[in-house]
Amino acid sequence: MLKIEDLSVKVADHNILKEFNLSIADGEVHAIMGPNGTGKSTLSKVIMGSHEYEILSGKIIFNDEDISALDVDERSRKGIFLAMQTPISIEGVTNSEFLRTALNARQSEPIALFDFIKTMESNMKDLDMKNDIVHKAINEGSSGGERKKNEVLQIKVLKPSFIILDEVDSGLDVDSLRIVCENINKYRQENPNTSILIITHYSRILEYIKPDYVHMMVDGKIVKTGDYNFAFEIDKSGYSELVNE
Ligand SMILES: Nc1ncnc2c1ncn2[C@@H]1O[C@H](COP(=O)(O)OP(=O)(O)OP(=O)(O)O)[C@@H](O)[C@H]1O
Ligand SMILES: [Mg+2]
Repeated sequence: MLKIEDLSVKVADHNILKEFNLSIADGEVHAIMGPNGTGKSTLSKVIMGSHEYEILSGKIIFNDEDISALDVDERSRKGIFLAMQTPISIEGVTNSEFLRTALNARQSEPIALFDFIKTMESNMKDLDMKNDIVHKAINEGSSGGERKKNEVLQIKVLKPSFIILDEVDSGLDVDSLRIVCENINKYRQENPNTSILIITHYSRILEYIKPDYVHMMVDGKIVKTGDYNFAFEIDKSGYSELVNE
């Protein structure tokens, strides 16, 4: 599904990604763990198509198509979704306006209002979210954890095929983390071809959503890859010890 080849990326005169390589097949779950400032969020924003970052060399291939030059909205309509590490609030745009517009932009017939309301209600119930957010501006006055849940609500409504979860677990209390992970696992069951890239500092989320591969990223590239158990090794040993091996 996703193939990143020798990707080098710069921001504000700093080289962040350095000949970065990663391949994710249909239906696979990959996790990336790595120290602060190593380029994990940069990677996720570059896959999504942020203009903040300059691609110096390399390619991003999605379903056999080079998407490196496509805009964010085109990538989104192709099925890529980024749940951001720090979701911002957007004044003046309600969650319902935003999601209905985004949903209609990816299907030939606009969704009927009644069907949209039903979809929203059932998905918010699944996520144990308060109903009144529908008519509130995006993330306005929301707590950190509520913002993370809102990202997952967007996934459930927009139905992407490739999902990046950039520290979706940070800010979630234990119950909310379980609910969010249960929702994502149910989504995977219903859409088995969906691939997921989980960026995290904690192995706990990986106990719920079991990855096929765990990558350790240091200084702009993947330096070591293992299976599910590698996450616990990282937890135990820390990055610096593993880098020195
Ligand atoms: N827009 C930007 N302008 C300037 N520097 C940036 C920008 N975006 C990222 N950086 C720098 O790039 C480096 C990588 O940042 P990034 O957010 O990708 O790290 P990260 O691996 O996600 O870290 P964390 O685990 O703390 O979330 C950092 O040194 C950061 O300061
Ligand atoms: Mg980050």
